[in-house]
Amino acid sequence: MKIKNVLLTGAGGKVGKAVLPKLIEAGYHIRALEFTDGLRVKKLKNVDVTSGDLRDASLAEKLLEDMDAVIHLANVKENRELFLDANVKGTFCLLDACKRAGHIQQYIQAGSDARAGIYYYPQPVPIDETHPHSGYPGYYPLSKIMEETMCEQFRLMWRLPITVLRFSWIHAEDDILAHLTLKEPNFGVPVWKDWAVTPEQKAFFEKNENAVACLRHPNGAAGKRQIVGIGDVVESIMLSLGNPTAIGEAFNVSGPSAFAYDTAAKYAAAKLDLPVVDFEVSEFNDFQIDMHKSQAILGLKPKYDIFRIIDDAVAFRKAGKKRSMCLYPG
Ligand SMILES: NC(=O)c1ccc[n+]([C@@H]2O[C@H](COP(=O)([O-])OP(=O)(O)OC[C@H]3O[C@@H](n4cnc5c(N)ncnc54)[C@H](O)[C@@H]3O)[C@@H](O)[C@H]2O)c1
Repeated sequence: MKIKNVLLTGAGGKVGKAVLPKLIEAGYHIRALEFTDGLRVKKLKNVDVTSGDLRDASLAEKLLEDMDAVIHLANVKENRELFLDANVKGTFCLLDACKRAGHIQQYIQAGSDARAGIYYYPQPVPIDETHPHSGYPGYYPLSKIMEETMCEQFRLMWRLPITVLRFSWIHAEDDILAHLTLKEPNFGVPVWKDWAVTPEQKAFFEKNENAVACLRHPNGAAGKRQIVGIGDVVESIMLSLGNPTAIGEAFNVSGPSAFAYDTAAKYAAAKLDLPVVDFEVSEFNDFQIDMHKSQAILGLKPKYDIFRIIDDAVAFRKAGKKRSMCLYPG
């Protein structure tokens, strides 16, 4: 494979803006798709920024001119009105244009662990790449499964050189603190306020006082889940691009191991000088993501454990940085 020119969709988003400078540093020329209605892409050397909307079926063909590879990140999250056009049709148009163009050497699709249902269902531990699609209830997981199914069929029917990277819940900036603490900004699920039942728990929200949440099962054990730091996501894309062994494969992309909420809460509480509050969540199944395949084939060795993710988030807040705007939260 000789890849020089790469189309990057979703370039203004969370993953796009983190991977773009790394791609440039590695010597690629990038055509960055900036969503007409979306966030602007930072102007960098060797980046040609093109504005457009992937719902427009005529766009994909133009975007692929002179490109060797595609990294498809553009997406909306839980959005009933948009998911079919933006995610499913948008991905179809790109795949179909790649098939017709005939010169694309690699197409990398952003997948998600949402396709495996994460904590919504009791999981075999850990979830590996052979685990059947079993999305949790939502239009976003449905679209990720439809995208992957199209990728699989384009690979089978037309030998399109496809790589799917199934990211876990991605943490950048101070996301983990926005998840673990009670005061706004709040981010992700479960939403602690929904699980506040005791007067003590409710008082934190009524008085707008902050604390760190610890998710517990009804039997008292701390919940366990696996997430991924943005640095490991970027690394997975860099290791996949131009890698012949990545073609035709889907890979889990997650952190080094699952974390337990009691460990995370204790660590974050000490850093922020806040109390820990337990929340009993009955609808939560522990899950872990199997990382053997991406380690063995891509050489991905995730570096961002829960402590590093929390450390980076605390440093982000201490530096007085503002959270990036998210156009389609999910
Ligand atoms: N963020 C996560 O936790 C997470 C987890 C698993 C998988 N993923 C997947 O990774 C990919 C990137 O996620 P992200 O968090 O960077 O998303 P993001 O929402 O931050 O960025 C997505 C980008 O797509 C653009 N976009 C939306 N609709 C478009 C359209 N019609 N035409 C052109 N561009 C359009 C948006 O403007 C935005 O810049 C997505 O496919 C997502 O499903 C993300």
